[in-house]
Amino acid sequence: MREKSILVIDDDKIILDSLCEFLSLEGFRASGAETLKGALAKLEKESYCLVLTDVNLPDGDGLELLDIIRRDYPQTVVIVITGYGTIDSAVKAIKQGAYDYLTKPIIDDELRLAVERAIQQQSLMSENESLRLQLERKHRLENIISHNYKMAKIFDLVEAVADSKITVLMAGPSGTGKSMLARAIHHRSSRHDKPFVEVSCGALPETLLESELFGHTRGSFTGAVNNKEGKFLAADGGTIFLDEIGNASPGLQAKLLRVLEDRQFEPVGSNKTTIVDTRIILASNRNLNDEVRQGRFREDLYYRINVVTIELPPLSERVGDVRLLAEHFLRMYSAQHSREKLGITDEAMEYMERYSWPGNIREIENIIERATLLSKSKFIGPDDLPETIKQEPSRQAKRYTPTSLKEALAGPEKDIIREALEANHWNRQATAKALQINRTTLFKKMKHYGLYAEAERLGLT
Ligand SMILES: Nc1ncnc2c1ncn2[C@@H]1O[C@H](COP(=O)(O)OP(=O)(O)O)[C@@H](O)[C@H]1O
Ligand SMILES: [Mg+2]
Repeated sequence: MREKSILVIDDDKIILDSLCEFLSLEGFRASGAETLKGALAKLEKESYCLVLTDVNLPDGDGLELLDIIRRDYPQTVVIVITGYGTIDSAVKAIKQGAYDYLTKPIIDDELRLAVERAIQQQSLMSENESLRLQLERKHRLENIISHNYKMAKIFDLVEAVADSKITVLMAGPSGTGKSMLARAIHHRSSRHDKPFVEVSCGALPETLLESELFGHTRGSFTGAVNNKEGKFLAADGGTIFLDEIGNASPGLQAKLLRVLEDRQFEPVGSNKTTIVDTRIILASNRNLNDEVRQGRFREDLYYRINVVTIELPPLSERVGDVRLLAEHFLRMYSAQHSREKLGITDEAMEYMERYSWPGNIREIENIIERATLLSKSKFIGPDDLPETIKQEPSRQAKRYTPTSLKEALAGPEKDIIREALEANHWNRQATAKALQINRTTLFKKMKHYGLYAEAERLGLT
Protein backbone atom coordinates (compact mmCIF):
# COMPACT_ATOMS: atom_id res chain seq x y z
CA MET A 1 0.00 0.00 0.00
CA ARG A 2 1.14 3.51 -0.73
CA GLU A 3 2.28 5.58 2.22
CA LYS A 4 -0.22 8.13 3.40
CA SER A 5 0.71 11.72 2.68
CA ILE A 6 0.48 14.41 5.29
CA LEU A 7 0.95 18.12 4.73
CA VAL A 8 2.22 20.19 7.64
CA ILE A 9 1.97 23.99 7.66
CA ASP A 10 3.76 26.13 10.19
CA ASP A 11 5.73 29.33 9.73
CA ASP A 12 8.14 28.37 12.47
CA LYS A 13 10.76 26.47 10.54
CA ILE A 14 12.06 24.59 13.55
CA ILE A 15 8.62 23.31 14.56
CA LEU A 16 7.85 22.49 10.94
CA ASP A 17 10.98 20.43 10.46
CA SER A 18 10.59 18.54 13.69
CA LEU A 19 6.93 17.71 12.97
CA CYS A 20 7.83 16.47 9.50
CA GLU A 21 10.67 14.40 10.84
CA PHE A 22 8.47 12.86 13.51
CA LEU A 23 5.78 11.95 10.97
CA SER A 24 8.33 10.45 8.58
CA LEU A 25 9.64 8.27 11.38
CA GLU A 26 6.04 7.19 12.01
CA GLY A 27 5.93 5.95 8.41
CA PHE A 28 4.10 8.78 6.71
CA ARG A 29 5.15 10.82 3.73
CA ALA A 30 5.33 14.27 5.25
CA SER A 31 5.87 17.51 3.43
CA GLY A 32 5.90 20.99 4.83
CA ALA A 33 4.86 24.51 3.86
CA GLU A 34 5.55 27.74 5.69
CA THR A 35 2.77 29.83 4.21
CA LEU A 36 -0.87 29.59 3.16
CA LYS A 37 0.16 30.15 -0.42
CA GLY A 38 2.77 27.43 -0.26
CA ALA A 39 0.21 25.05 1.22
CA LEU A 40 -2.32 25.73 -1.54
CA ALA A 41 0.31 25.12 -4.20
CA LYS A 42 1.13 21.75 -2.66
CA LEU A 43 -2.53 20.79 -2.29
CA GLU A 44 -3.04 21.41 -5.95
CA LYS A 45 -0.24 19.07 -6.93
CA GLU A 46 -0.78 16.18 -4.60
CA SER A 47 -3.61 14.66 -2.65
CA TYR A 48 -3.09 14.49 1.09
CA CYS A 49 -5.14 12.47 3.47
CA LEU A 50 -4.31 14.77 6.36
CA VAL A 51 -3.35 18.40 6.79
CA LEU A 52 -1.84 19.68 10.03
CA THR A 53 -1.96 23.44 10.08
CA ASP A 54 -0.98 26.17 12.43
CA VAL A 55 -3.66 28.79 12.98
CA ASN A 56 -1.39 31.78 12.54
CA LEU A 57 0.27 31.97 9.17
CA PRO A 58 2.17 34.92 7.78
CA ASP A 59 -0.14 35.36 4.79
CA GLY A 60 -3.49 34.39 6.25
CA ASP A 61 -4.79 32.03 8.86
CA GLY A 62 -5.26 28.30 9.23
CA LEU A 63 -9.02 28.66 9.42
CA GLU A 64 -9.06 30.16 5.96
CA LEU A 65 -7.11 27.16 4.75
CA LEU A 66 -9.55 24.90 6.57
CA ASP A 67 -12.43 26.46 4.64
CA ILE A 68 -10.69 25.93 1.34
CA ILE A 69 -9.91 22.33 2.15
CA ARG A 70 -13.47 21.58 3.25
CA ARG A 71 -14.70 23.04 -0.01
CA ASP A 72 -12.14 21.87 -2.56
CA TYR A 73 -10.56 18.79 -0.98
CA PRO A 74 -13.40 17.24 1.00
CA GLN A 75 -11.50 13.98 1.35
CA THR A 76 -8.69 15.54 3.31
CA VAL A 77 -9.06 15.76 7.08
CA VAL A 78 -7.61 18.70 8.95
CA ILE A 79 -6.02 19.00 12.37
CA VAL A 80 -5.47 22.55 13.56
CA ILE A 81 -2.54 23.55 15.74
CA THR A 82 -3.24 26.43 18.07
CA GLY A 83 -0.96 28.42 20.30
CA TYR A 84 -1.06 28.02 24.04
CA GLY A 85 -4.12 29.68 25.56
CA THR A 86 -6.06 30.21 22.35
CA ILE A 87 -8.78 27.67 22.95
CA ASP A 88 -11.28 29.97 21.20
CA SER A 89 -9.71 29.46 17.84
CA ALA A 90 -9.63 25.69 18.47
CA VAL A 91 -13.38 25.71 19.10
CA LYS A 92 -13.89 27.78 15.99
CA ALA A 93 -11.81 25.36 13.97
CA ILE A 94 -13.81 22.33 15.11
CA LYS A 95 -17.05 24.13 14.31
CA GLN A 96 -15.71 24.86 10.86
CA GLY A 97 -15.04 21.20 10.24
CA ALA A 98 -11.55 20.51 11.56
CA TYR A 99 -11.30 16.94 12.76
CA ASP A 100 -9.22 17.75 15.82
CA TYR A 101 -6.91 20.35 17.32
CA LEU A 102 -3.57 20.25 19.07
CA THR A 103 -2.14 22.93 21.31
CA LYS A 104 1.45 23.99 21.35
CA PRO A 105 3.81 22.78 22.66
CA ILE A 106 3.00 19.58 20.82
CA ILE A 107 3.60 16.39 22.72
CA ASP A 108 4.66 13.38 20.64
CA ASP A 109 2.10 10.98 22.10
CA GLU A 110 -0.76 13.41 21.58
CA LEU A 111 0.31 13.98 18.02
CA ARG A 112 0.64 10.27 17.33
CA LEU A 113 -2.85 9.59 18.69
CA ALA A 114 -4.50 12.49 16.89
CA VAL A 115 -2.91 11.55 13.57
CA GLU A 116 -3.89 7.92 13.94
CA ARG A 117 -7.51 8.77 14.61
CA ALA A 118 -7.66 11.30 11.82
CA ILE A 119 -6.24 8.84 9.32
CA GLN A 120 -8.79 6.26 10.36
CA GLN A 121 -11.55 8.79 9.88
CA GLN A 122 -10.16 9.73 6.51
CA SER A 123 -10.12 6.18 5.17
CA LEU A 124 -13.73 5.70 6.28
CA MET A 125 -14.65 8.90 4.54
CA SER A 126 -12.94 8.08 1.31
CA GLU A 127 -14.45 4.60 1.28
CA ASN A 128 -17.93 6.02 1.64
CA GLU A 129 -17.17 8.62 -0.92
CA SER A 130 -15.93 6.18 -3.52
CA LEU A 131 -18.87 3.86 -2.89
CA ARG A 132 -21.23 6.74 -3.28
CA LEU A 133 -19.55 7.88 -6.48
CA GLN A 134 -19.69 4.36 -7.89
CA LEU A 135 -23.37 4.07 -7.19
CA GLU A 136 -24.07 7.50 -8.52
CA ARG A 137 -22.24 6.80 -11.68
CA LYS A 138 -24.32 3.70 -12.14
CA HIS A 139 -27.68 5.24 -11.44
CA ARG A 140 -27.30 8.72 -12.74
CA LEU A 141 -29.94 9.57 -15.27
CA GLU A 142 -27.10 10.63 -17.51
CA ASN A 143 -26.19 6.98 -17.80
CA ILE A 144 -29.59 6.10 -19.11
CA ILE A 145 -29.08 6.57 -22.77
CA SER A 146 -31.71 8.04 -25.05
CA HIS A 147 -32.39 10.74 -27.57
CA ASN A 148 -35.97 9.75 -27.85
CA TYR A 149 -38.55 12.44 -27.10
CA LYS A 150 -40.73 10.06 -25.10
CA MET A 151 -37.72 9.15 -22.97
CA ALA A 152 -36.86 12.81 -22.46
CA LYS A 153 -40.35 13.32 -21.06
CA ILE A 154 -39.85 10.30 -18.85
CA PHE A 155 -36.57 11.70 -17.50
CA ASP A 156 -38.39 14.94 -16.63
CA LEU A 157 -41.06 12.96 -14.86
CA VAL A 158 -38.46 10.95 -12.95
CA GLU A 159 -36.79 14.15 -11.79
CA ALA A 160 -40.12 15.58 -10.75
CA VAL A 161 -41.29 12.65 -8.66
CA ALA A 162 -37.98 11.26 -7.39
CA ASP A 163 -37.80 13.15 -4.14
CA SER A 164 -41.32 12.47 -2.95
CA LYS A 165 -43.06 9.46 -1.52
CA ILE A 166 -45.42 9.17 -4.48
CA THR A 167 -46.10 5.63 -5.67
CA VAL A 168 -44.77 5.08 -9.16
CA LEU A 169 -45.80 2.40 -11.61
CA MET A 170 -43.39 1.39 -14.34
CA ALA A 171 -45.10 -0.06 -17.37
CA GLY A 172 -43.63 -1.45 -20.54
CA PRO A 173 -42.34 -4.67 -22.05
CA SER A 174 -39.50 -6.63 -20.55
CA GLY A 175 -36.05 -5.18 -21.05
CA THR A 176 -37.14 -1.58 -21.57
CA GLY A 177 -35.46 -0.24 -18.44
CA LYS A 178 -38.15 -0.45 -15.76
CA SER A 179 -35.84 -1.76 -13.06
CA MET A 180 -33.10 0.65 -14.05
CA LEU A 181 -35.43 3.65 -13.75
CA ALA A 182 -36.82 2.42 -10.44
CA ARG A 183 -33.28 2.46 -9.08
CA ALA A 184 -32.65 5.86 -10.60
CA ILE A 185 -35.70 7.23 -8.79
CA HIS A 186 -34.47 5.83 -5.49
CA HIS A 187 -30.99 7.20 -6.01
CA ARG A 188 -32.30 10.65 -6.81
CA SER A 189 -34.46 10.77 -3.70
CA SER A 190 -33.45 11.81 -0.23
CA ARG A 191 -33.87 8.13 0.66
CA HIS A 192 -30.85 7.22 -1.42
CA ASP A 193 -28.69 6.23 1.52
CA LYS A 194 -31.39 3.88 2.81
CA PRO A 195 -32.03 0.44 1.29
CA PHE A 196 -33.48 -0.19 -2.16
CA VAL A 197 -35.14 -3.59 -1.96
CA GLU A 198 -36.29 -5.43 -5.05
CA VAL A 199 -38.86 -8.24 -5.01
CA SER A 200 -40.16 -10.07 -8.02
CA CYS A 201 -43.79 -11.00 -7.49
CA GLY A 202 -43.68 -13.51 -10.31
CA ALA A 203 -40.98 -15.76 -9.00
CA LEU A 204 -42.47 -17.24 -5.82
CA PRO A 205 -45.63 -19.15 -4.89
CA GLU A 206 -48.21 -17.11 -2.99
CA THR A 207 -47.47 -18.14 0.61
CA LEU A 208 -43.74 -17.80 0.24
CA LEU A 209 -44.09 -14.44 -1.44
CA GLU A 210 -46.30 -13.21 1.36
CA SER A 211 -43.77 -14.15 3.99
CA GLU A 212 -40.98 -12.76 1.84
CA LEU A 213 -42.74 -9.39 1.74
CA PHE A 214 -44.26 -9.16 5.19
CA GLY A 215 -42.19 -11.61 7.19
CA HIS A 216 -43.55 -14.42 9.32
CA THR A 217 -43.52 -15.69 12.86
CA ARG A 218 -42.03 -18.98 13.84
CA GLY A 219 -44.36 -21.92 13.22
CA SER A 220 -46.84 -19.93 11.13
CA PHE A 221 -46.53 -22.53 8.39
CA THR A 222 -44.58 -25.71 7.76
CA GLY A 223 -41.00 -24.73 7.25
CA ALA A 224 -41.25 -21.49 9.18
CA VAL A 225 -38.71 -22.50 11.81
CA ASN A 226 -37.70 -18.99 12.79
CA ASN A 227 -39.14 -15.54 12.85
CA LYS A 228 -38.36 -13.77 9.63
CA GLU A 229 -38.28 -10.07 8.84
CA GLY A 230 -40.00 -9.22 5.57
CA LYS A 231 -38.76 -7.05 2.73
CA PHE A 232 -41.15 -4.24 3.55
CA LEU A 233 -39.49 -3.86 6.91
CA ALA A 234 -36.05 -4.23 5.34
CA ALA A 235 -36.94 -1.30 3.09
CA ASP A 236 -38.07 0.89 5.99
CA GLY A 237 -36.91 4.43 5.30
CA GLY A 238 -35.96 3.44 1.78
CA THR A 239 -37.70 2.14 -1.32
CA ILE A 240 -39.28 -1.19 -2.16
CA PHE A 241 -39.53 -2.15 -5.80
CA LEU A 242 -42.25 -4.72 -6.54
CA ASP A 243 -41.57 -6.17 -9.94
CA GLU A 244 -44.12 -8.10 -12.03
CA ILE A 245 -46.96 -6.91 -9.85
CA GLY A 246 -49.47 -8.23 -12.42
CA ASN A 247 -48.71 -11.71 -11.09
CA ALA A 248 -49.78 -11.00 -7.52
CA SER A 249 -52.48 -13.38 -6.24
CA PRO A 250 -55.84 -12.05 -4.97
CA GLY A 251 -54.77 -12.59 -1.36
CA LEU A 252 -51.58 -10.69 -1.82
CA GLN A 253 -53.39 -7.94 -3.73
CA ALA A 254 -55.63 -7.39 -0.69
CA LYS A 255 -52.62 -7.12 1.59
CA LEU A 256 -50.84 -4.78 -0.76
CA LEU A 257 -53.84 -2.51 -0.92
CA ARG A 258 -53.64 -2.05 2.83
CA VAL A 259 -49.92 -1.34 2.75
CA LEU A 260 -50.42 1.21 0.02
CA GLU A 261 -53.20 2.90 1.94
CA ASP A 262 -51.80 2.87 5.46
CA ARG A 263 -48.24 1.55 5.22
CA GLN A 264 -49.38 -1.12 7.67
CA PHE A 265 -49.37 -4.90 7.65
CA GLU A 266 -49.15 -7.96 9.87
CA PRO A 267 -46.43 -10.56 9.37
CA VAL A 268 -47.76 -14.00 8.38
CA GLY A 269 -48.98 -15.77 11.54
CA SER A 270 -48.87 -12.65 13.67
CA ASN A 271 -51.49 -10.15 14.74
CA LYS A 272 -49.00 -7.48 15.59
CA THR A 273 -49.31 -4.58 13.20
CA THR A 274 -46.12 -3.27 11.69
CA ILE A 275 -45.87 0.27 10.37
CA VAL A 276 -43.24 1.19 7.83
CA ASP A 277 -42.06 4.30 6.04
CA THR A 278 -41.34 2.81 2.65
CA ARG A 279 -41.59 4.30 -0.79
CA ILE A 280 -43.27 1.90 -3.17
CA ILE A 281 -42.39 1.55 -6.84
CA LEU A 282 -44.05 -1.15 -8.89
CA ALA A 283 -43.54 -2.58 -12.33
CA SER A 284 -45.55 -4.69 -14.67
CA ASN A 285 -44.95 -5.88 -18.17
CA ARG A 286 -48.61 -6.82 -18.46
CA ASN A 287 -51.14 -4.13 -19.16
CA LEU A 288 -52.79 -3.75 -15.75
CA ASN A 289 -55.79 -2.02 -17.25
CA ASP A 290 -56.51 -5.18 -19.23
CA GLU A 291 -55.94 -7.30 -16.15
CA VAL A 292 -58.54 -5.23 -14.31
CA ARG A 293 -61.02 -5.57 -17.16
CA GLN A 294 -60.50 -9.32 -17.18
CA GLY A 295 -61.14 -9.47 -13.45
CA ARG A 296 -57.64 -10.64 -12.57
CA PHE A 297 -56.47 -7.50 -10.85
CA ARG A 298 -58.35 -5.56 -8.18
CA GLU A 299 -59.64 -2.28 -9.49
CA ASP A 300 -59.16 -0.47 -6.15
CA LEU A 301 -55.56 -1.63 -6.00
CA TYR A 302 -55.02 -0.52 -9.57
CA TYR A 303 -56.20 3.00 -8.71
CA ARG A 304 -53.87 3.10 -5.72
CA ILE A 305 -50.97 2.05 -7.88
CA ASN A 306 -51.76 4.10 -10.91
CA VAL A 307 -50.86 7.47 -9.44
CA VAL A 308 -47.83 8.23 -11.56
CA THR A 309 -47.31 5.81 -14.41
CA ILE A 310 -44.15 5.77 -16.42
CA GLU A 311 -44.73 4.00 -19.69
CA LEU A 312 -41.49 2.84 -21.23
CA PRO A 313 -41.62 2.52 -25.02
CA PRO A 314 -40.24 -0.62 -26.65
CA LEU A 315 -36.92 -0.21 -28.42
CA SER A 316 -38.65 -0.68 -31.78
CA GLU A 317 -40.31 2.68 -31.15
CA ARG A 318 -36.98 4.38 -30.54
CA VAL A 319 -34.98 3.28 -33.56
CA GLY A 320 -32.81 6.35 -33.17
CA ASP A 321 -31.56 4.99 -29.86
CA VAL A 322 -30.23 1.75 -31.34
CA ARG A 323 -26.95 3.32 -32.40
CA LEU A 324 -26.55 5.27 -29.17
CA LEU A 325 -27.20 2.21 -27.05
CA ALA A 326 -24.97 -0.02 -29.17
CA GLU A 327 -22.10 2.44 -28.78
CA HIS A 328 -22.78 2.88 -25.08
CA PHE A 329 -22.71 -0.87 -24.39
CA LEU A 330 -19.67 -1.24 -26.61
CA ARG A 331 -17.76 1.27 -24.50
CA MET A 332 -19.00 -0.33 -21.34
CA TYR A 333 -18.17 -3.93 -22.22
CA SER A 334 -14.87 -3.19 -23.93
CA ALA A 335 -13.79 -1.57 -20.68
CA GLN A 336 -15.24 -4.29 -18.50
CA HIS A 337 -13.56 -7.10 -20.40
CA SER A 338 -10.40 -4.97 -20.76
CA ARG A 339 -10.67 -5.04 -24.48
CA GLU A 340 -9.33 -2.39 -26.75
CA LYS A 341 -12.22 -0.14 -27.71
CA LEU A 342 -14.01 -1.65 -30.69
CA GLY A 343 -16.13 -0.06 -33.40
CA ILE A 344 -19.16 -1.30 -35.27
CA THR A 345 -19.22 -1.56 -39.07
CA ASP A 346 -21.95 0.30 -40.97
CA GLU A 347 -23.28 -2.98 -42.22
CA ALA A 348 -23.68 -4.42 -38.75
CA MET A 349 -25.33 -1.18 -37.59
CA GLU A 350 -27.81 -1.38 -40.47
CA TYR A 351 -28.85 -4.84 -39.42
CA MET A 352 -29.32 -3.67 -35.88
CA GLU A 353 -31.34 -0.61 -36.88
CA ARG A 354 -33.64 -2.75 -39.00
CA TYR A 355 -34.19 -5.42 -36.33
CA SER A 356 -37.33 -5.27 -34.18
CA TRP A 357 -35.68 -6.03 -30.76
CA PRO A 358 -38.41 -8.06 -29.04
CA GLY A 359 -36.13 -8.31 -25.98
CA ASN A 360 -35.60 -4.55 -26.08
CA ILE A 361 -32.56 -2.99 -24.43
CA ARG A 362 -31.64 -6.13 -22.55
CA GLU A 363 -31.35 -7.87 -25.91
CA ILE A 364 -29.12 -5.25 -27.51
CA GLU A 365 -26.99 -5.21 -24.38
CA ASN A 366 -26.51 -8.99 -24.52
CA ILE A 367 -25.76 -8.95 -28.20
CA ILE A 368 -23.15 -6.25 -27.87
CA GLU A 369 -21.50 -7.95 -24.91
CA ARG A 370 -21.34 -11.21 -26.83
CA ALA A 371 -19.98 -9.45 -29.92
CA THR A 372 -17.35 -7.67 -27.82
CA LEU A 373 -16.07 -11.02 -26.63
CA LEU A 374 -16.31 -12.74 -30.00
CA SER A 375 -15.00 -10.15 -32.38
CA LYS A 376 -11.60 -10.98 -33.79
CA SER A 377 -11.07 -7.62 -35.45
CA LYS A 378 -11.26 -4.00 -34.35
CA PHE A 379 -14.81 -3.73 -35.68
CA ILE A 380 -17.92 -5.64 -34.88
CA GLY A 381 -19.26 -6.83 -38.19
CA PRO A 382 -22.32 -8.81 -39.29
CA ASP A 383 -20.44 -12.05 -38.55
CA ASP A 384 -20.34 -11.16 -34.87
CA LEU A 385 -24.12 -10.78 -34.72
CA PRO A 386 -26.54 -13.66 -34.11
CA GLU A 387 -28.43 -15.01 -37.12
CA THR A 388 -31.85 -13.90 -35.83
CA ILE A 389 -30.90 -10.28 -36.24
CA LYS A 390 -29.91 -10.77 -39.81
CA GLN A 391 -33.02 -12.73 -40.80
CA GLU A 392 -35.48 -10.10 -39.67
CA PRO A 393 -37.74 -9.06 -42.54
CA SER A 394 -38.11 -5.33 -42.98
CA ARG A 395 -40.62 -3.61 -40.75
CA GLN A 396 -44.29 -4.06 -41.54
CA ALA A 397 -46.07 -0.83 -42.43
CA LYS A 398 -48.88 -0.03 -40.01
CA ARG A 399 -52.41 -0.08 -41.38
CA TYR A 400 -55.00 2.58 -40.60
CA THR A 401 -58.74 2.80 -41.15
CA PRO A 402 -58.98 6.11 -42.94
CA THR A 403 -61.46 8.85 -42.25
CA SER A 404 -60.38 11.41 -44.82
CA LEU A 405 -57.23 10.52 -46.68
CA LYS A 406 -55.46 13.63 -45.44
CA GLU A 407 -56.30 12.87 -41.83
CA ALA A 408 -55.43 9.23 -42.19
CA LEU A 409 -52.04 10.10 -43.59
CA ALA A 410 -51.22 12.68 -40.96
CA GLY A 411 -50.45 10.15 -38.23
CA PRO A 412 -48.18 7.90 -40.28
CA GLU A 413 -46.51 10.94 -41.86
CA LYS A 414 -45.65 12.32 -38.46
CA ASP A 415 -44.35 8.93 -37.32
CA ILE A 416 -42.27 8.51 -40.45
CA ILE A 417 -40.75 11.96 -40.10
CA ARG A 418 -40.00 11.38 -36.46
CA GLU A 419 -38.41 8.01 -37.16
CA ALA A 420 -36.35 9.52 -39.94
CA LEU A 421 -35.26 12.35 -37.65
CA GLU A 422 -34.29 9.92 -34.92
CA ALA A 423 -32.44 7.68 -37.34
CA ASN A 424 -30.50 10.74 -38.50
CA HIS A 425 -29.95 12.05 -34.98
CA TRP A 426 -32.27 14.99 -35.65
CA ASN A 427 -29.98 16.39 -38.32
CA ARG A 428 -32.47 18.13 -40.61
CA GLN A 429 -30.32 18.16 -43.70
CA ALA A 430 -29.66 14.43 -43.52
CA THR A 431 -33.30 13.72 -42.70
CA ALA A 432 -34.58 15.81 -45.63
CA LYS A 433 -32.17 13.99 -47.88
CA ALA A 434 -33.28 10.58 -46.62
CA LEU A 435 -36.94 11.48 -47.11
CA GLN A 436 -36.17 13.11 -50.44
CA ILE A 437 -37.93 16.34 -49.61
CA ASN A 438 -36.35 19.76 -49.32
CA ARG A 439 -35.35 21.25 -46.02
CA THR A 440 -38.03 23.93 -46.01
CA THR A 441 -40.73 21.31 -46.47
CA LEU A 442 -39.27 19.23 -43.68
CA PHE A 443 -39.07 22.29 -41.43
CA LYS A 444 -42.72 23.21 -42.12
CA LYS A 445 -43.89 19.69 -41.48
CA MET A 446 -41.89 19.51 -38.26
CA LYS A 447 -43.54 22.72 -37.07
CA HIS A 448 -46.93 21.44 -38.15
CA TYR A 449 -46.60 18.17 -36.25
CA GLY A 450 -45.00 19.68 -33.19
CA LEU A 451 -41.75 17.87 -33.92
CA TYR A 452 -39.77 21.08 -33.90
CA ALA A 453 -40.91 21.76 -30.36
CA GLU A 454 -39.83 18.25 -29.39
CA ALA A 455 -36.43 18.76 -30.95
CA GLU A 456 -36.10 21.99 -28.98
CA ARG A 457 -36.97 20.23 -25.77
CA LEU A 458 -34.27 17.71 -26.47
CA GLY A 459 -31.82 20.48 -27.23
CA LEU A 460 -31.35 19.14 -30.71
CA THR A 461 -32.17 22.19 -32.80
N1 LIG B 1 -31.93 3.80 -21.59
C1 LIG B 1 -31.00 2.91 -21.20
N2 LIG B 1 -29.69 3.23 -21.30
C2 LIG B 1 -28.75 2.34 -20.96
N3 LIG B 1 -29.01 1.12 -20.48
C3 LIG B 1 -30.29 0.75 -20.34
C4 LIG B 1 -31.35 1.63 -20.68
N4 LIG B 1 -32.52 1.01 -20.43
C5 LIG B 1 -32.21 -0.22 -19.98
N5 LIG B 1 -30.87 -0.38 -19.92
C6 LIG B 1 -30.17 -1.63 -19.52
O1 LIG B 1 -30.88 -2.71 -20.14
C7 LIG B 1 -31.04 -3.81 -19.27
C8 LIG B 1 -32.50 -4.12 -19.05
O2 LIG B 1 -33.09 -3.08 -18.30
P1 LIG B 1 -34.08 -3.38 -17.07
O3 LIG B 1 -34.23 -2.13 -16.30
O4 LIG B 1 -33.63 -4.58 -16.33
O5 LIG B 1 -35.43 -3.69 -17.87
P2 LIG B 1 -36.83 -4.19 -17.33
O6 LIG B 1 -36.83 -4.05 -15.86
O7 LIG B 1 -37.83 -3.29 -18.00
O8 LIG B 1 -36.97 -5.60 -17.78
C9 LIG B 1 -30.33 -3.43 -17.99
O9 LIG B 1 -29.02 -3.97 -18.00
C10 LIG B 1 -30.27 -1.90 -18.03
O10 LIG B 1 -29.12 -1.44 -17.36
MG1 LIG C 1 -36.88 -5.63 -14.47
